[in-house]
Amino acid sequence: MKTVILYYSRTQKTALVVKTLAEEIHADTLEIMDLKDRAGFLNYMGASADALREKKTKIKPDPVNLSDYGLVYIGTPTWASKPAPAIITLIDKCDLKGKDVILFATMGRSGGKRVLERMEEKIEARGGRMVNSFLMKTGNKSLEEISEDTKKVIQELDLKLYEI
Ligand SMILES: Cc1cc2nc3c(=O)[nH]c(=O)nc-3n(C[C@H](O)[C@H](O)[C@H](O)COP(=O)(O)O)c2cc1C
Repeated sequence: MKTVILYYSRTQKTALVVKTLAEEIHADTLEIMDLKDRAGFLNYMGASADALREKKTKIKPDPVNLSDYGLVYIGTPTWASKPAPAIITLIDKCDLKGKDVILFATMGRSGGKRVLERMEEKIEARGGRMVNSFLMKTGNKSLEEISEDTKKVIQELDLKLYEI
């Protein structure tokens, strides 16, 4: 069974964590697109409101077939201390029965712990088992620092051990 990293990324910071992770642990990646326009300052307020209410959105690809995978990473940016709507929508559509899941959230400064707790509740309700999780602060960090810090987390949590 293989490993896949599912993720949403609005400004490519979560995507950078994913790129680093995928290279280190040899996983497939699948970007989940939010079909609602989230660009620009005006949409920022709407995005926070949608996240806070856990409002569903239209995503692509839909559905996501996980039958080839035993280990599934799910990554999201923190929006108003919640997972991004694309990830809330994704989890509610996934069959995670029998899957091991590793969750991660990026955040400017804070709120990521609540994101992980909420995702854990939701993946357990879909039959998944959270085996590990991590947070990555991105505020005031260069892209190089984000990538280096991701490598540190991979080492600290021994994430390579989960390769199947
Ligand atoms: C709508 C919105 C809400 C956000 N809310 C939070 C928050 O509550 N706490 C925080 O630390 N960062 C918050 N952020 C910052 C992002 O979580 C952070 O920059 C993240 O790493 C961005 O990931 P991305 O580039 O993959 O989209 C928010 C960003 C957006 C766009």
